[in-house]
Amino acid sequence: MLQRCILRTYHVLALVLCVSAREDFDWTKNEKTSFYYSTFPTGFSWGAGSSAYQTEGAWNIDGKGMSIWDAFTRKKGKIFLNDTGDTSCDGYNKFKDDITLMKDMKLNHYRFSISWPRILPSGLKSEHINEKGIKYYEDLINMLLDNKITPIVILYHWDLPQLLQEKYGGWQNVTMVNYFNDFANLCFERFGHKVKYWITFNNPWSIAVEGYETGEHAPGMKLKGTGAYKAAHHIIKAHAKVWHTYDMQWRSKQKGMVGISLTADWGEPVDISNQRDIEAAERYIQFYLGWFATPIFNGDYPQVMKDYIGRKSGQQGLGASRLPVFSPQEKSYIKGTCDFLGLGHFTTRYITPKNYPSGLGDSYFADRDLAELVDPKWPDPGSEWLYSVPWGFRRMLNFVKTQYGNPMVYVTENGVSEKMVCTDLCDDWRMQYFKDYINEMLKAVKDGVNVKGYTAWSLLDNFEWDEGFSERFGLYYVDFSNKNKPRYPKASVQFYKRIISSNGFPNQREVESWKRKSVETCASSNQLLAADPLIGHMEMVSEIVIPTVCTLCILLSAVFLMFLLRGRI
Ligand code: NOJ
Repeated sequence: MLQRCILRTYHVLALVLCVSAREDFDWTKNEKTSFYYSTFPTGFSWGAGSSAYQTEGAWNIDGKGMSIWDAFTRKKGKIFLNDTGDTSCDGYNKFKDDITLMKDMKLNHYRFSISWPRILPSGLKSEHINEKGIKYYEDLINMLLDNKITPIVILYHWDLPQLLQEKYGGWQNVTMVNYFNDFANLCFERFGHKVKYWITFNNPWSIAVEGYETGEHAPGMKLKGTGAYKAAHHIIKAHAKVWHTYDMQWRSKQKGMVGISLTADWGEPVDISNQRDIEAAERYIQFYLGWFATPIFNGDYPQVMKDYIGRKSGQQGLGASRLPVFSPQEKSYIKGTCDFLGLGHFTTRYITPKNYPSGLGDSYFADRDLAELVDPKWPDPGSEWLYSVPWGFRRMLNFVKTQYGNPMVYVTENGVSEKMVCTDLCDDWRMQYFKDYINEMLKAVKDGVNVKGYTAWSLLDNFEWDEGFSERFGLYYVDFSNKNKPRYPKASVQFYKRIISSNGFPNQREVESWKRKSVETCASSNQLLAADPLIGHMEMVSEIVIPTVCTLCILLSAVFLMFLLRGRI
């Protein structure tokens, strides 16, 4: 009797606790700045990311071919201070050191990309396979696995072989679909017994819009209103083809997964009670994430894109929409080609409608008929476009859940930058960004979003595309002026380590001490970094001053000898 009574009291208590936890949690939905103390499901994967062109350097070493970024960065005026990724972080030679850093952070995975022209210098498998390039990635993958770090491999993070650009016009040409498939197939053949997570494309929105519409990125084309849609069309087809290749030829043997990584900002209606704002915000997201996700999950472009671009093309007197059309066969071939969704997310915008009359020029941006706004109170420590708006992340994740049938999600990029001039390793704002964004992701997991892993962008400061080295996203600071490219931990390394070892945010008392504890070591790192110019100078002593002094000594001795000999004669 007593036992039953205790048991019942226990059950009632458990129920009360559950309900009050749910109430607590529901409250977080309306309160944008709330914090939720809890942990992630067991087995949640923590990682950091990089990409080949941004990190490897060694642009012309060991038989690597040229990529469109090698060519683009050589054109004056395209990149801030005309920087190039020629040497960058020298990741090609320092990957072992970098894996040590990852191991120290207890990362579960490392997301990196394979440089297509490092493996296939001309872009074509039929022409030449560069075994030295293959060996580099083999060594990297083996060492990651030896250290129990799972490789998540991206096949295309923007560095198309330059010859494919020159001969065929890059992603404007549908032949890229087969060439990319050959490259991917080679990667599956050579690395697939060890790699179980493949991502076809990273951030195709950027490839299409910045590469072929605005021209800010390689290959620098400004085909306004058409180029981005065409590039995206071919990229989606290429993605689907590679997924089918894996599915048919490799899946049963290798038992891996193939996904795509889409990067998108969240769009919040300026006035949530205004239907036109709500529709404009929906349009913003459909033109961003939906452009790629809807064909892949649901079989065709979002209806709103077809409507808007179709209507505007008509008003411009064109016979057909500037948005290409998938045939019924293509639709069913593309639909369902995603074993998991990679999601990159950094920031949010407020959205309201804005009419762009046709006649003012075609463009992807005008097609959307909307304006993007930001709240001046949002923190923006680094890149001009990057405001810290953590609550947008939870909304974005929930959008993915409801729109695409709750797919398995790996967050493949999330992080914040600081400006080049900032050499303070005690990066308080980054710790805050990670804390708040990861907390919003935790809330999304509790909402039922199927998030399996998180990747902090980025492991190291690296080449930030058209911004050169002026924006630093790294957990580790890299001194690019020193030939050895030394890495220095920012305080956020310690902070992220604590999130990883606790698998989330266990309780308020503990979490509140993390920032203080994390900055304890960064003061000494700051001192080391401050001493770096001295170390850099010492290299010059050994490389320039010593040989020069030696040569002078030899010359002087020769002259002295001559005088001696003359004297004797
Ligand atoms: C997304 C891109 O994929 C990555 O390469 C870049 O560094 C980050 N955005 C930050 O801009």
